Amino acid sequence: MTFSALLQNWYQSSQRDLPWRKTQDAYSIWLSEIILQQTRVQQGMAYYLKFKKHYPTVSDLAKAEEDEVLKHWQGLGYYSRARNLHATAKRVHEEFNGVFPTTYAEIRKLKGIGDYTAAAIASFAYNLPHAVVDGNVYRVLSRLYGDDTPIDSTQGKKLFQQLADELLDQKHPGNHNQAMMEFGALQCVPKNPDCVACPAQPQCKAFEMSRVEILPVKAKKTKQRNRYFHYLVPRFEEYLFIEKREDKGIWHNLYQFPLIEVPENIAQSKVPELEAWQALVGHPDVIIESVSETYKHILSHQRIFASFWRLNVPFEVVQRLEKKYLKITAKDLERYAIPRLIDRYLEDEQSKRQIGLPFNFR
Ligand code: ADE
Repeated sequence: MTFSALLQNWYQSSQRDLPWRKTQDAYSIWLSEIILQQTRVQQGMAYYLKFKKHYPTVSDLAKAEEDEVLKHWQGLGYYSRARNLHATAKRVHEEFNGVFPTTYAEIRKLKGIGDYTAAAIASFAYNLPHAVVDGNVYRVLSRLYGDDTPIDSTQGKKLFQQLADELLDQKHPGNHNQAMMEFGALQCVPKNPDCVACPAQPQCKAFEMSRVEILPVKAKKTKQRNRYFHYLVPRFEEYLFIEKREDKGIWHNLYQFPLIEVPENIAQSKVPELEAWQALVGHPDVIIESVSETYKHILSHQRIFASFWRLNVPFEVVQRLEKKYLKITAKDLERYAIPRLIDRYLEDEQSKRQIGLPFNFR
């Protein structure tokens, strides 16, 4: 039996019931694939259903405000996915009359769509013969062929794409691709795969050579950078101050409290002495009501250590802050898309209030 036949037999009896597999609508498939990048299926499902409810068609998404799209995306992370999604929806709406392109080459040209996503859309929506290669597929192929070429090298990318193309069922590329990814997600899992129960075991070179656990191989370790954030949370009556994060990089166009970033981990007592602190909230009547615990927030290339400084500030400081920040009521905060890190802090503040501590925003 060919590997593809075996794979699709397995898929027929083992696949999960997922909503994006029941449609051939390119917009819905695209949406699901963007959400599922770097997101688990369970979490992605809720967001997929939410987006489909608010934006049933690509034109509905195109007509939405970016702030609203980001708000719906809140909690998923990697916000450039949402911004690209929105930008591409606008383009499909305006340039293609709301009809998603139907060839691989046209799909691939859209912003935020790489080789993998273009192949997924082309094969799932239009049954075009393009093999998908994502993290799951790299793992399955490197094990099946017992090949330790690094998957993050140019050579590895070329090799595994070629192997995926060779295995592809030309008659049923969509089903084959779904089966391949599902096999990686459920059977050929990264840690402790159940090789004894695996239908591909007789064909699996890695199993034969006892190399399952060490495959796939990656050449580079992702470099991690540490960053140290101090968020100022000045309160005046029922007001808070926030700003839109304009700089490129993480959390672009999301909202945040006034932020002081320092290059290293400095003592807490030194923070109010910083020039940036003095410029923003320096005043003899400022009272530091509390400093939060240090929140650790891990992203793909950085570790953020954040503290939240709750301040009681006099009117003079309010006037200063108003020039640079948006003054909003605590209640209105929920209308703005904020990073998960800030949301974690707000959740903790709220739960403190539930056990009788004062102050909350949520
Ligand atoms: N991850 C990425 N794409 C997927 C899909 N179509 N089904 C399940 N998991 C996925």
